[in-house]
Amino acid sequence: MTLSKISSLSKKNSLILLADDKTDFSLYDFSADEVKFIKKQIKDEVNPVQLNQLNRYVFVHYFKDDGKPCHIITEKYRTAANKLSCKLNSLKIKTIDVIDCGKNPTWTLAFAESLALSNYQFLKYFTKDAKKKVNSLSKIGINSKELSKESINEMQIVVDAVFNARRLVNEPLSYLDAEQFSKEFKEMGKDAGFTVKVLSKKQIEKENMGGLLAVNRGSMHDPTFSIMEYKPSKPINKKPYVLVGKGVVFDTGGVSLKPTSMSMDFMKSDMGGGATMSNALYAIAKAKLPVHVIALVPATDNRPGQDAYVPGDVINMRNGKTVEVLNTDAEGRMILADALSYASNYDPELVIDCATLTGSAARAIGQQGIVIMGNADKSEFDQLKYSGDKTYERVVEFPFWDEYSELIKSTIADMKNVGPAEAGSITAGKFLEEFTDYPYVHIDIAGSAFLHKADSYRGTGGTGVGVRLLFDYFKRKCD
Ligand code: BES
Ligand code: ZN
Ligand code: ZN
Repeated sequence: MTLSKISSLSKKNSLILLADDKTDFSLYDFSADEVKFIKKQIKDEVNPVQLNQLNRYVFVHYFKDDGKPCHIITEKYRTAANKLSCKLNSLKIKTIDVIDCGKNPTWTLAFAESLALSNYQFLKYFTKDAKKKVNSLSKIGINSKELSKESINEMQIVVDAVFNARRLVNEPLSYLDAEQFSKEFKEMGKDAGFTVKVLSKKQIEKENMGGLLAVNRGSMHDPTFSIMEYKPSKPINKKPYVLVGKGVVFDTGGVSLKPTSMSMDFMKSDMGGGATMSNALYAIAKAKLPVHVIALVPATDNRPGQDAYVPGDVINMRNGKTVEVLNTDAEGRMILADALSYASNYDPELVIDCATLTGSAARAIGQQGIVIMGNADKSEFDQLKYSGDKTYERVVEFPFWDEYSELIKSTIADMKNVGPAEAGSITAGKFLEEFTDYPYVHIDIAGSAFLHKADSYRGTGGTGVGVRLLFDYFKRKCD
């Protein structure tokens, strides 16, 4: 999918006019009859007017400025674009030009963004009729005085990053084991200009990453630990930001096997945090944002193999603490803990992790949002909330009170890897905090990383949620 700025109106390409009460249709080369038709047909914000011209289609989409907050209106444009994208593909339209008619450029860009995001498909494994399934739409032109080439180019980068995150989430374990995940990072690094170092099982052993090694014991595949770094020449930050992503390429639950196929059949998506963090870094590097960022992804599958870790085991973690494993299905925190302790090496400004960590987070807020918590400055949470509204990858802050740590105290080790059912996403976050010694934000995307049913431009399957949020968050730091 390509997005580009166009400075003059084409007479060949199909068009979408984003119209409002002030739009002067005489500016767009319509005949008097066509203008009459448009004015008569334009009724609401739901049904665009469609003109079938000789060699193209023209859609006039009316939006009223209803005085709602800007981010709500922006999302209205995205929702409308998603609906229209189905129509464009059913009409086999390949190129569409979006004309902003003097609108707020944010809305025009959001409309184009959603057209692009709505067009994502994962067709790799179809052998029959795959070509017939391919969406026709492949080019979006944007005609807007106020939008710079750079801002459209940046949107292209972010869309590419989201597509790549979705692809990685949609890839099954039969393709994407830990080693393949790391190879993908290397390719991304070459493309965007960041370095990638991958620690092998031996090196992971040398690092004493007891959590990652414990989870990996039930698997016949080796674990990996990927270290990605983007350091521009004049960064705004002296100390790096470190992003940590959960890379469980498949989660069976291990010996504490997941109880139903329903709870397991989409667990190829349990590396969603790793896909999000690596692709947020990809977008930051590709857009050459002047910010020094490192991404760490510990990766393995979680299986009940012969030598698998079992409930009751006590694990020595990288930072020297001991963990009593009471449920092998709480594996994400075991591998993230070692990555968080590794992050201390960088004396970071701030560390953010992102993980499909708990069913508890998903049950609390569903697929509509993202749970965040942590001990970083309030201003970081404010910035995340702002970017969350703007990208509509909305975040909700959960409490991070010390009393929750009481719930994961073990009788035989420094802590246990599960607390009671209540506040499960918070005790998971408090567990992770034990492995940090810097300002910390924890992001739980269990509810929104993978969708069983299409939800607007977020699509079905992997959503790549968090990429747009984090890109916007870092971009604003650079402004
Ligand atoms: N990967 C799961 C969490 C998950 C659940 C992600 C649903 C996406 C959708 C995680 O490893 C897990 O199994 N967590 C357990 C923790 C429990 C044993 C304390 C959970 O949430 O049930
Ligand atoms: Zn699990
Ligand atoms: Zn998991």
